[in-house]
Amino acid sequence: MKSQARPATGRLLYAQSGGVTAVINATAAGVIQTARAHGIKVYAARNGILGALREDLIDTGKESAAAIETLRHTPGGAFGSCRYKLKSLEANRAEYERLIEVLRAHDIRWFLYNGGNDSADTALKISQLGKAMGYDIRCIGVPKTVDNDLAVTDCCPGFGSVAKYTAISTLEASLDVASMADTSTKVFILEVMGRHAGWIAAAAGLAGESADAPPHIILFPERVFDEAAFLAKVKATVERVGWCTVVASEGIRNAEGQFLAEAGTRDAFGHTQLGGVAPVLAALVKEKLGYKYHWALPDYLQRSARHAASKTDADQAYAVGKAAVEYALAGMNAVMPVITRTSDSPYRWKIEPASLDKIANREKKMPAGFLTRDGFGITAAARRYLSPLIQGEAPLPYGRDGLPKYGSLKNVAVKRKLAAFAP
Ligand code: F6P
Repeated sequence: MKSQARPATGRLLYAQSGGVTAVINATAAGVIQTARAHGIKVYAARNGILGALREDLIDTGKESAAAIETLRHTPGGAFGSCRYKLKSLEANRAEYERLIEVLRAHDIRWFLYNGGNDSADTALKISQLGKAMGYDIRCIGVPKTVDNDLAVTDCCPGFGSVAKYTAISTLEASLDVASMADTSTKVFILEVMGRHAGWIAAAAGLAGESADAPPHIILFPERVFDEAAFLAKVKATVERVGWCTVVASEGIRNAEGQFLAEAGTRDAFGHTQLGGVAPVLAALVKEKLGYKYHWALPDYLQRSARHAASKTDADQAYAVGKAAVEYALAGMNAVMPVITRTSDSPYRWKIEPASLDKIANREKKMPAGFLTRDGFGITAAARRYLSPLIQGEAPLPYGRDGLPKYGSLKNVAVKRKLAAFAP
């Protein structure tokens, strides 16, 4: 975390990585606006680290201040993202040499990688590579993930907004099923993201607090799926309340450790693609209990829902981008700006640097104290943690067509200086 003198010249390279979020572009705005205020030119890598390897760089200097400002409210990843894992230095030296060659050719002295725990690992490796290859480069990991599973930081930009969307959707769909239950649907099942950690599923719990309020059942990846206990609780809830809302994490597993919903494909990091647990549960409810059901899989809708974003989340996303540039220009290396909670109520937070080696490749699961004893709900401690993260609305400008006025950049390519390279 040592600070060194700032290089006399140089550009800053920013790249987005992994699954994008409703507010990752707010982080990009924080990066670009802060760098501009310091007179630093920013290049963006097209499609994350792949753009750096392919020398496919974007000159953000070609964008107007107004265009950069639109990033604050535009979902998706403005420069493209990727799932691509850099191997170890020993395993693929050519790739690292290529990276250094590209950075050197464009006089890039600061590299900001905006992603989750895999991306923190990539940023850490590049910082090590800089040292090993004698190239002066400062690397900063910038946090982002709807999964909220990064170590050290209290929460992850992107999570507060998916949490708000999930809590709102759970509440709204529950009002619907409650209206229909007498003669039609008895069970509604919502499937949410979160591969190995149940943070998003937990956020659904904010929809209601009393014993019979929805969601009546939350299924967490931290708990083994117990079919008999699940069905018993669905039945008891329908008999008592008249209907039942279930929120299931895509990552729930059976006692054998198998995901209930594997799509059968894997990404570059070896992660299993998930999705489809809701129909599996719905079929079970129908077969064993005979209830009519509906289920929903919001999938990308949940992580792109900027119209339901949390103001807290949008503010934090911007703040980590701004801090990342300040850390880089102060000469810090291999760190990440993390969010530290200083008070629950009133909610207060600040940004601090943390070493990437404490974050890379680690996953933060829900603490046991956040789950109720039966494993189907959240505790008061979880509510104290989650509630501030969904506070505030981050309104959008709407056009006459009734749609949000999202921004779109020109993404002008920087002239290549090197021979082509296929990663
Ligand atoms: O980035 C996290 C995440 O949104 C997970 O919750 C989800 O399982 C995964 O990404 C989906 O990844 P992809 O968009 O690459 O299929």
